[in-house]
Amino acid sequence: MAKLTVKDLDFKNKTVLMRADFNVPQDASLTITDDTRIRATLPTIKYILGNGVKKLVLMSHLGRPDGKVVAKYSLKSVAVRLKELLGEDVLFLTDCVGDNIKKDVDSSKERVVLLENLRFHAEEEADDANFSKQLACLGEIFVNDAFGSAHRSHASTEGVTHYLKSAAGFLVEKEILYLGGAVENPTRPFMVILGGAKVSDKIGVIENLLPKADALIVGGGMAYTFLKAEGKSIGSSKLEKEKLGLAKSCLRKAKRLRKAILLPVDNLVVEVIAPSAKSEIVGVDIPDGKIAVDIGPKTIKLFEDKLKSAKTIVWNGPLGIFEIDAFSRGTEEIAKFIANLECTSIIGGGDTAAAIAKFKLEGKMTHISTGGGASLEFLEGKVLPGIAALSDR
Ligand code: 3PG
Repeated sequence: MAKLTVKDLDFKNKTVLMRADFNVPQDASLTITDDTRIRATLPTIKYILGNGVKKLVLMSHLGRPDGKVVAKYSLKSVAVRLKELLGEDVLFLTDCVGDNIKKDVDSSKERVVLLENLRFHAEEEADDANFSKQLACLGEIFVNDAFGSAHRSHASTEGVTHYLKSAAGFLVEKEILYLGGAVENPTRPFMVILGGAKVSDKIGVIENLLPKADALIVGGGMAYTFLKAEGKSIGSSKLEKEKLGLAKSCLRKAKRLRKAILLPVDNLVVEVIAPSAKSEIVGVDIPDGKIAVDIGPKTIKLFEDKLKSAKTIVWNGPLGIFEIDAFSRGTEEIAKFIANLECTSIIGGGDTAAAIAKFKLEGKMTHISTGGGASLEFLEGKVLPGIAALSDR
């Protein structure tokens, strides 16, 4: 990696300020329902703690409280979970900047300190220089392991790097290694699966990856704008009218580049989207009034036949409404199929990661990104400001 990483630094007797992405889901009683992102930062935290650090000051956002203190977005439960996972006390501070916070950090008997949600201050998202300085004065070295927030140019991701030597943590390094490796130097055949509701969310990825991939497989809600662009009937399925032109130009570009774009050839359809809705399989043309909610068995077979020779697969976006069991078969079958292939399988974060977790296939994929928006922007070929700002080697 061209940037400094934790391995390049000497932590002995230093206070380290570390940005993590502890933006984890919680239920109504504020119990964490998925601690993957906390666990994902443990290698970096443990490495720093094992290398003579004086203090480790952790900071993160949770949710989108819009610059106000919102109790349900407190990081308090994260401190509790972190203590359990580390087997070491974690001091939780009820704010993230100010003289008192600085004093509390300096005088804490615990080695690990977690600051309260950065986004309780509007200055965080505004990348305010004074706020960045206040954060920076809490440490002597900065480590960024928040891959999930690397696409945000905020005070805690970009701003602090102006004041401290800044290095990537192991998670950031791993994400760049897998996502970057897949995109820049894939073992071929390289296939990309895109799904999810909207073409508009994925157009950047299509533009960046179509020339690099050997085939593009499209399912989920976004497939129906493509099918419409091919002149098929899509009933009442998801259509982004204003993206029809883009879909047509992608299909033309694929032809020019001699790249296959595979679209559904049959579909599971309903009249209303509800778990108990009556469903049926129809062909590529969807009758009036019907809504496609999953790919059908012929499409599953078509996609599997294509994927079986793949040596690298990047998958971003589910192939149906997998959250509803009755509409999850396409996503599940393809996930299981990939799990048994001998290939490098890279799963974009967000919904696709949630789908893989639902089918309990996490251990069967090469890499599951902890970044939703961040992995998408990375796959679009964009520069991630949180990574670009780190110190060069
Ligand atoms: C995420 O969940 O994708 C990251 O934590 C970033 O959150 P944000 O989209 O609110 O910046």
